[in-house]
Amino acid sequence: MCGIVGYIGQKQAAPILLDGLAKLEYRGYDSAGIATLNDGKIDVAKAKGRLAVLSELTDEGKNVPGTVGIGHTRWATHGEPSDINSHPHVSMDGRFSVVHNGIIENYISLKEKLISKGFEFKSETDTEVIAHLFEYYYNGDIIDAMIKVINRVEGSYAIGVLCADYPDQFVAVRKASPMIIGLGEGENFIASDVTAILNHTRNIYYLEDNEIVILKSDGVKVYNTDKEEVEKEVFTVNWDVSAAEKGGYEHFMMKEIEEQPKALRDTISPRIKDGRIVLDDISLTAADIKAIKKIFIVACGSAYHVGVVGKYAIEKMCRIPVEVQVASEFRYCDPIVGKNDLVIVISQSGETADTLAALKEAKSKGARILSIVNVVGSAIANASDDVIYTWAGPEIAVATTKAYSTQLAVMYLISLYMADKLGMVTSGQYKKLIEQIEALPDQVAEIIKQKDKVQYLASLFFNSQSIFFIGRNLDYAVSLEGSLKLKEISYIHSEAYAAGELKHGTISLIESGTLVVALATGRELFDKTVSNVKEVKARGAVVIGLTTESQTYMSEVADHVITVPDTDEMLLPSLSVVPLQLFGYYVASLKGCDIDKPRNLAKSVTVE
Ligand code: G6P
Repeated sequence: MCGIVGYIGQKQAAPILLDGLAKLEYRGYDSAGIATLNDGKIDVAKAKGRLAVLSELTDEGKNVPGTVGIGHTRWATHGEPSDINSHPHVSMDGRFSVVHNGIIENYISLKEKLISKGFEFKSETDTEVIAHLFEYYYNGDIIDAMIKVINRVEGSYAIGVLCADYPDQFVAVRKASPMIIGLGEGENFIASDVTAILNHTRNIYYLEDNEIVILKSDGVKVYNTDKEEVEKEVFTVNWDVSAAEKGGYEHFMMKEIEEQPKALRDTISPRIKDGRIVLDDISLTAADIKAIKKIFIVACGSAYHVGVVGKYAIEKMCRIPVEVQVASEFRYCDPIVGKNDLVIVISQSGETADTLAALKEAKSKGARILSIVNVVGSAIANASDDVIYTWAGPEIAVATTKAYSTQLAVMYLISLYMADKLGMVTSGQYKKLIEQIEALPDQVAEIIKQKDKVQYLASLFFNSQSIFFIGRNLDYAVSLEGSLKLKEISYIHSEAYAAGELKHGTISLIESGTLVVALATGRELFDKTVSNVKEVKARGAVVIGLTTESQTYMSEVADHVITVPDTDEMLLPSLSVVPLQLFGYYVASLKGCDIDKPRNLAKSVTVE
């Protein structure tokens, strides 16, 4: 959702802002705008629609002068996508210009107050109150004004502000919304994430809530809300610039599917030393693990689907009860969670609003938080007791692939690590599982090599109205992800069903020619799922069976078969998900959909 970029330096700001915003497009947006400071005057250009519209309006930024500026891509929350509602918003006296990502929860009361003081609002946004509040509180000192503003607003915010009185600087702050500071040579930046500034610098500051940043071309100063300067540590990002670029691929999604073997290797290898799992990153001791009464796994979207796999894996290996819940439900169900519970929070972006709120809810009740996060230094990582990072690199396509896969890998490592500490695995089982986990990257690479076959199947079914995915246990968990991958990017209606549950209602939707993708990789329940395949076939369904190489019987019942290599049952989701990612991709591609930026979706969802 909303993306922010800010620049101050020697170069013209506008083209740099547009370039940075283009790197943030993947977050999802419906309008864009920039503001620059030039000769003590603020220039604003903004437009509904894609960045290309703004780019054309400003001649690629060339006709917006100034070497300091802020830019924004807006994903509408308060007020429809329109030129007027786009950011930046400007105070009535024209002295301040503001970009904002987040939600100002008390904006209505603030708006009423400002209107009673004579302020006039042009937009329907919550953000405009910030611009007017700056004017209201400003007494000649920008930091004082910022402190007063953040004392008054409630909610989440990353804010960049230009002030016409300060031509050689701009100011920023964040709370519960993402923003990093980029430290260049003679130029400095703010950005919603590092991908926007990787072309310029890899040295960054992560900000704590309500740290106020003054950016000048020759330096950056950070203050707390008592106006005392805060020492910050410089963090160097090890992502390659090419990691955030398409590199010849038509879509980021395919690039990221193909990056999975590397992402898995990068995530797994550093954590296995001499055949043992070493989780240096976390402080959870054997005694802590033994004291755990219950584990909750909380996440949204695909990360939640990893949690569904996690429940099966942890319960099977550790015999600790696991409840997996979507974060938006968990936070509002007054969860019975406490001191002896572990809450595993999963998030690629580390900034999903519901996930972060659920984390805080669990923490406030005394639970210990272990998070699995991809974006280093993100809000969820910062708020957790322990973090295990997935080393997937930047994920740009809205539909996650490599982040999902690396989250799964971490889930296996945690499950096996805990099972070992609990004495629930023999050394033989442990050794074998480690070998199988280490083999996953190569096995995934083998599956990707067979993508032509999946593309062929996609060509048979891309005109479907409705597609069902069925499976049992872990195969059901993967069905959820396969179904989501397909529907989010191809807009084909799809449902995932526990294979045994289908006949309790949904089977009435099966008619002649309906495609059912049946996952039956697990050996124990293979025969049961085969029976379900027969049930749907008897009602006219066409079936793609997804199973392991050794379970050849599938070809006798299904119309088409996709196989993945055999491995331990717990690890099979890492393999079976790959053909489903490819299937979703090819179906969407054949339908001509906007694969990397599907309609209405955002990569990081920073609102409830
Ligand atoms: C959005 C994305 C999903 C993602 C979910 C959770 O809905 O479109 O792909 O799984 O958010 O995101 P997170 O960053 O917390 O993993």
